[in-house]
Amino acid sequence: MQKIIAYSMNYKTSAGIALCLMLIELIVELVQPLIMAKIIDGGILVEDYSTVALWGSVLIGLSLLAFTAGITNSFFAAHFSQGVGYDLRRDLFAKVQKFTHENFQQFSTPGLITKITNDVTQIQSLLFMFVRIALRAPLFIIFGLMMAFTINVQLTFILVIAVPAFLGFLFWVLKIGVRLFKRVQLKIDRLNTVIRENLTGIRLIKGFNREEYESDRFLHVNKQLMGVNKRALWLMEVAMPVVMLGMNASILLILWLGADKLSLGNIQAGELVALINYATRIMFTFGLFTFLIMIFSRGNASAERISEVLDVEAPSYLEDSEKIQQELKGEVRFERVSFFHSDHPVLHNVSFHAQPGQTIGLLGETGAGKTSLLHLIPRLYEKHSGEIYLDDNPIEVFDTKSLRKQISLVPQDVHLFSGSVRSNIAWGKENAKMSEVVEAAKQAQIHSFIKTLPDGYDTVLGQKGVTFSGGQKQRLSIARALVRKPKILILDDSTSALDAYTEMKLLNSLKTQQCTVFIVAQKISSLKEANQILLLHQGKLIAQGSHEELLNESPYYREVFQSQREDVM
Ligand code: CTP
Ligand code: MG
Repeated sequence: MQKIIAYSMNYKTSAGIALCLMLIELIVELVQPLIMAKIIDGGILVEDYSTVALWGSVLIGLSLLAFTAGITNSFFAAHFSQGVGYDLRRDLFAKVQKFTHENFQQFSTPGLITKITNDVTQIQSLLFMFVRIALRAPLFIIFGLMMAFTINVQLTFILVIAVPAFLGFLFWVLKIGVRLFKRVQLKIDRLNTVIRENLTGIRLIKGFNREEYESDRFLHVNKQLMGVNKRALWLMEVAMPVVMLGMNASILLILWLGADKLSLGNIQAGELVALINYATRIMFTFGLFTFLIMIFSRGNASAERISEVLDVEAPSYLEDSEKIQQELKGEVRFERVSFFHSDHPVLHNVSFHAQPGQTIGLLGETGAGKTSLLHLIPRLYEKHSGEIYLDDNPIEVFDTKSLRKQISLVPQDVHLFSGSVRSNIAWGKENAKMSEVVEAAKQAQIHSFIKTLPDGYDTVLGQKGVTFSGGQKQRLSIARALVRKPKILILDDSTSALDAYTEMKLLNSLKTQQCTVFIVAQKISSLKEANQILLLHQGKLIAQGSHEELLNESPYYREVFQSQREDVM
């Protein structure tokens, strides 16, 4: 909540104006019963109609004032709450963009989406309600009681005992409510996860005939969500009648004792009406309270969830502006580098040396650590021990932004963005010109295919690139990597879906690039031409050298090579 208060301070003028307007509404509400009492006792009962007319017009005037204040209040309340919501979403998004790999492991993707959307919306309604009506409820109770005291001390005592008792009860409900609503949000996360998995994996699900299983899974989560939600609502629904019952009993008591006083002449009829009026209004304020409690419980749960994200410390090593921004030549040297995923060892003492412009092949069984090794170069992962040198400088001295600008990574899972073919390739480089886009597409061996598309480079991709084949998507993402003319190019199994001929053409065109290329492939034929091949096995570099050297020196390599040749034959 502290975070939310800090964000609210940026809109303190709007919030302040809204609160002042709300106070006007409150004051009008508070004096209304008194004026009614005046109309009854000083006007109706003594048949003085000029008094009725006078106070009647005051009443109408005040109501109009309250009405105008209410409308203007909504305007400022909206500006305030929407503004804070906008800022929260902006900062959450910016924070998530700074997340490291470890940070991402802490949060689930759908969870982050719910936080940036649904949780922020909860905060918005909370803030809106806060400056619109929330303060009015407690203030009305306090001042209402004080006003009632000015009318009759003895009768008001009934309220002084009843009101705190019911308030205590409501706060107890609030505590349980917060817990329940936190669970509601977790269930919404879970629901989003299942929906997301289903939408993205729909073909797989159909192919495996798993629709029913997935439906059941969805229904299960859906039911759980309904369950907690129902419990939370039930709690609120039960709390209210209990309070109403108690308050009505207090009002009856006031009426009963008041009737006695009236017959003895200790109180005037109008005063008694005013007193009952305050009591009833306080009772309805309790109604407002339960509604507010619901919004507060939700808002509080959401505020905590949002803070979890905002509190993540952005690692300072990625933000140091004092670091050097020099142009890379493309030399990469690993010295006894080890790396862990959480506590799970992935790379042990890996050492190799890649000269600028060389092509380095990576070969190894699945899970050997190829992707992990390559992710260390643009610092998507942080090594655990050892040193990584780029052009003879330890990797830490480089400014991460400028470092990443000169490294292009084509990840193992192709990711295309919604938009045109052109925008997908141009995404790789800020302000890429059309000629650069075409050049990159040619190098990636995708230009002639793009030409056959209905709108050429302006063809819009279906969501997730559905209209493209696996190999076409791979080449498109290679073009995206090439358009920025990197000094280091990392192809993580990015040619796996290409036919041998296209792959060969692609590799040949890469040779003309002035950059160091790291290429992961399962087929030795893809790596044969590489200057060096690194053979990884269970996180260890078990052999390195050219294809011929490895054939002579490494029985494991020979075995793989042999088995692949048999595949071909
Ligand atoms: N790993 C992990 N957490 C991750 C990614 C990987 O614990 N977020 C582990 C994997 O379980 C694996 C090891 O790290 O044991 C190496 O993974 P990776 O580098 O991705 O292996 P690759 O050699 O790239 O495997 P593949 O050929 O299947 O891509
Ligand atoms: Mg991999």
